Amino acid sequence: MDGNLSVLESALTIPFEIRRVYYIYGTKKNSVRGGHAHKSLKQVMFVINGSLDLKLETKEGVSIVTLDKPDLGVFIDVLSWREFYNFSDNAVVMVFASEYYDESDYIRDYNQFKKEIGKHN
Ligand code: TYD
Repeated sequence: MDGNLSVLESALTIPFEIRRVYYIYGTKKNSVRGGHAHKSLKQVMFVINGSLDLKLETKEGVSIVTLDKPDLGVFIDVLSWREFYNFSDNAVVMVFASEYYDESDYIRDYNQFKKEIGKHN
């Protein structure tokens, strides 16, 4: 076989039933996306073209990962504050989500997020 084939299977390699898939593209180099956490939503995120840096904060602490390979996925659990930045040209982000879109599941206020993770210590 020429080239590569990556496969994702709902509830098997992805650790939840996939209810929603969305993708982000056309970002500028200095774009910053994210800046929120979720109460119930779990996600797995791939950068299937190009690269970016992902900063994740949870009650365990802060981690930064460069996503620069189409087969490198990151699981983003509940109560994870995420920021995406350093987008390369033509970066394409693909996200698999455990729930349908629900604005009421977002925590968009960083201080509220810090309070929420404090409660879960
Ligand atoms: P948001 O999740 O805040 O953006 P980011 O990609 O930076 O984390 O989503 C941006 C906007 O798009 C927001 O107004 C909500 C809307 N949106 C939907 O309508 N449906 C979706 O599935 C998603 C992910 C976002």
